[in-house]
Amino acid sequence: MTGEGLVDTYNRVINYLRLSVTDRCNLNCFYCGAAPGQCVAEPSRQELTVEDYRQVCEVAVALGIDRIRLTGGEPLLRTDIVQIIDAIAGINGIKDISLTTNGMLLEEMASALAAAGLKRVNISLDSLSEENFRQITRGGRLAGTLKGIERALRAGLVPVKLNVVLLKGINDHEIEQFIRLTFNQDLHVRFIEYMPAGGQQEKWAEHFLAITRVMEIACSVAPLQKVEGEHGVGPAQYYTLKGAVGKIGLISPLSRHFCACCNRLRVTADGKFKPCLFLEDEVDLRPALGNREKLIEKFREAVTLRADPQRVACDAGERGGQFQGKRFMSQIGG
Ligand code: 5AD
Repeated sequence: MTGEGLVDTYNRVINYLRLSVTDRCNLNCFYCGAAPGQCVAEPSRQELTVEDYRQVCEVAVALGIDRIRLTGGEPLLRTDIVQIIDAIAGINGIKDISLTTNGMLLEEMASALAAAGLKRVNISLDSLSEENFRQITRGGRLAGTLKGIERALRAGLVPVKLNVVLLKGINDHEIEQFIRLTFNQDLHVRFIEYMPAGGQQEKWAEHFLAITRVMEIACSVAPLQKVEGEHGVGPAQYYTLKGAVGKIGLISPLSRHFCACCNRLRVTADGKFKPCLFLEDEVDLRPALGNREKLIEKFREAVTLRADPQRVACDAGERGGQFQGKRFMSQIGG
């Protein structure tokens, strides 16, 4: 390791890096923050290259980071995504490389991704009904994502985690069906509270639903048991229904925030560190590319900007009001 590892002002150790590889997306989800059409149509700002990602990850590992996630936008739209994974997988000291995707392109790409060194995938799946899926994603095909899930399982990109953003009045009537998926399939179905990214406060106020609703429904389906132990490095709390092979994950950034144990840094596709999802602060890493010492300094600068967890509101409505970021989720990486 290079000198001290990354520890912020509040003694949180940073060991997880989320790299967005593109702002572009082939869907245009309701909750992303982008207006209809905007997500797909917006010209991409300059994206970091394979070599840039390799450099960033090499320094990250030297600073104690050992888990990497690739996000977007839709990361599989990068024609060089396999090369990016290959470059990162070749760095000594990385324990986990994962990727978040909407699954549409997994059918054709899952095997190549696994062969390049990708360990596992998280797949966004916000509805199990064709029509609802099409509306939430503004044009996506449910069958495409389902096929992607099947291919990911077959390629061994496991555990396959499904991300369901909870939307009151839109997909909350499907919670039970999602929960029941875990009975027969070894999937981690993760419910995520809707965050007001990119200035969608009004929509958020209308459709936010606290994670406790999922617990209520799960308990009415079967006895629920908490799963203890290591489940990656994320903030999800995991449970299993009695008799189920899969797991249910609950992620509550608003109603029960987990800032006190936040272990991550984000890098946007245009080369900015984003120390906190809820804040606007960014640190441009581009000027440091090609210079290891400068890149280390940028990492350290980003870490100093992380927010005080004690100043984070515990009330969901108030916490929502603290969301300052103007970027859409597709421009951050979720
Ligand atoms: N609120 C909560 N989760 C979101 N995601 C994207 N936008 C939001 C939002 N506004 C999640 C989706 C996706 C991941 C990349 O980020 O679940 O799977």
